[in-house]
Amino acid sequence: MIKKILLSAFLLPAAMAFAQQYGGMWIPTELNEKEMKDLGMKISAKDIFNPQKASIKDAVVQFNGGCTAEIISPKGLLLTNHHCGFGQIQAHSTVQNDLLSNGFWATNMSAELPNPGVTVDFIVDIKEATDQILEGTDNLTEPELSKKISNNIEVYKNSQKIENYQSISVKPMYYGNKYYAYTIETYKDIRLVGAPPQSIGKFGSDTDNWVWPRHTGDFSMFRIYADKNNKPAEYSKDNVPYVPKHFLPVSIKDKNENDFTFVFGFPGKTTEYLPAIAVEKIMTEIDPAKIAVRDVALKTLDEKMRVDNATRIKYASKYASVANYWKKWIGEVEGLRKSNAVEKKVMYEGSLVAKNSEIKTTLDQLNKLYTEQAPYALNNAYYSEVIRNAETLALANIYSNYITAVEAGRMDEKGIAALKSKLTSFYKDYSPELDAKVTAKLLALYANKTAPQFLPAGFDKFKNETQNIQNIEEISKNSVITGRAAVNGASLSADIDKAFSNQDKLVKTLKKDPVYQLFANIKDTYTKTADPQFSSLQTKIDALQKKFMQQQITTDKERKFFPDANSTLRVTYGKVKGSSPRDAVSYGYQTHLAGVIEKYVPGDYEFDVPKKLIDLYNKKDFGNYKDKGGDVPVGFTATNHTTGGNSGSPALDAYGNLVGLNFDRQWEGTMSDINYDPRFSRNIMVDTKYILFIIDKFADSKWLIDEMKIIK
Ligand code: ARG
Ligand code: GLU
Repeated sequence: MIKKILLSAFLLPAAMAFAQQYGGMWIPTELNEKEMKDLGMKISAKDIFNPQKASIKDAVVQFNGGCTAEIISPKGLLLTNHHCGFGQIQAHSTVQNDLLSNGFWATNMSAELPNPGVTVDFIVDIKEATDQILEGTDNLTEPELSKKISNNIEVYKNSQKIENYQSISVKPMYYGNKYYAYTIETYKDIRLVGAPPQSIGKFGSDTDNWVWPRHTGDFSMFRIYADKNNKPAEYSKDNVPYVPKHFLPVSIKDKNENDFTFVFGFPGKTTEYLPAIAVEKIMTEIDPAKIAVRDVALKTLDEKMRVDNATRIKYASKYASVANYWKKWIGEVEGLRKSNAVEKKVMYEGSLVAKNSEIKTTLDQLNKLYTEQAPYALNNAYYSEVIRNAETLALANIYSNYITAVEAGRMDEKGIAALKSKLTSFYKDYSPELDAKVTAKLLALYANKTAPQFLPAGFDKFKNETQNIQNIEEISKNSVITGRAAVNGASLSADIDKAFSNQDKLVKTLKKDPVYQLFANIKDTYTKTADPQFSSLQTKIDALQKKFMQQQITTDKERKFFPDANSTLRVTYGKVKGSSPRDAVSYGYQTHLAGVIEKYVPGDYEFDVPKKLIDLYNKKDFGNYKDKGGDVPVGFTATNHTTGGNSGSPALDAYGNLVGLNFDRQWEGTMSDINYDPRFSRNIMVDTKYILFIIDKFADSKWLIDEMKIIK
């Protein structure tokens, strides 16, 4: 395919090759102020990020290492997604007091709930440190290169004067062509303030996940606490609400199509600068392999979850997490095809080579390496997805690591305690019978899809799915790992302390266990036949990708480059917009409460609606929160270029007021991680009007609204 396109690409005018409009995830110290202002921004780049002065950056934090959150009151009130606070809401829930189902609203500060271990990170300064980090690396190759860089990073960190409550993190940009240093302040006393019930915060659940039109009130609220000097401190009842340098005013003005917005947060990972060959492999081989494995796992789980309530509850959260990326990849493949991502890249490469012939050498090498790596990469994709989704094997993997640690003398009391607690929570939501079935089907898929050189000897016997289900059930039944057979007189899933009471015996039993042996056989074969080649080729690809990145930057002078997302603080901007993702399909930019009621399915686990919300709707008791159409806006879409990690990010208007809370993207545009296309790529946000409506009218928590600065 690539060759054919290459030929035609050279015939096309270079100007057509790259027609990207806005999009991009910009380092806050290097914003395209002009373009932002042209699009409607009324504040300056310095109002967004200024290390010397209070600016919007002081209201945006990374929430617990993954999501984003923002401060919306002078008393450290924090807003993030419901799905970002889900673990904390769940941790405070019991059968008698189920905060997930009922929601939670503290009636005053002393009723806010502490969450040990949860942190938020402020970025107080960003400095480029490329020269210091790359010093003395000119003639080095791996593994010396990585060693020297780690060393330089240590030297750099030690040379910086910081406060004892600060730390420095150094991150590579542009595949290691540049390095940036971040000064971080981490607060550790973060309390739960409020969360709507799941029937609002997770409304539509998996069916609506990645889907527009959307009606989810995906938000929850926390508060940052500090010591008496407003500095970070471990939890203490004597801590006081944090006084931020800046907090976001909350706008409840009506939104209009084409309004300027920007999103400020911590996007996790994108790969926008890959060569065409890499994108083609993702689209035609890697994503389809991962999707195929999850297809089978999800279908098998779903059959049982639909007819058995206990299983549904046990597997709800696991199902959601497996389904999340499954659905994203399906959208990604479709979007890459529809946006002609490979063809576009090939044309772009042609235009680069026309300007700089050295790039041809880089691309030829990359093409050769990706082609050589393809069979190993495919096996890597199948192997990792099968191990992840066949829980029997995932469990065996945990025990295999345990045995290795014991035998190396690396297992101490603390390690054992951590392992036991991990296993206990695993077994709590585990059905060995159902999993035996999933595992059997996935092994059949693995046996059928894997090239013979990557399979253990005699693996053909797993090819027949029906027979496999019997085989694996037999193995599972006789395994201590699944908890169905006993060790030290107890089942690992029923009495973990007793099962661990004699560890010599446990290790010996595990090594003879049929599940362990099955897993060890698959892993050994993978480790010998695919992994070393996969990794060593990847090291070579990484080095060339760094060079290709550099060549793109120096050759394409017209393009404004931004570094791929890497969980560092970024700004993306765009306009409020609907979309036309398919022939004859056109989406508006905004949903309303009426749409929640339209989707309402009484008693359904995804589409139930709380009675109080229905009553408010029927009475049209909307307070300040309706728009000119007379209904409460719920969600809206815009062309902001976001990705995973942007969940909980503030969407701000031209003046820096909060107008929405980012939580998802539209399915048809998720290829934006590889190829952003303003025609299809939309981020999805909860409208601030809906958030305030729920806090005020549904939760009767006016005291929280009173803390905020509302822009009407
Ligand atoms: N798709 C959104 C994000 O990755 C939301 C995920 C949580 N919601 C769910 N139904 N699984 O990541
Ligand atoms: N839900 C995603 C998150 O948890 C954001 C959606 C996306 O990938 O854009 O970060």
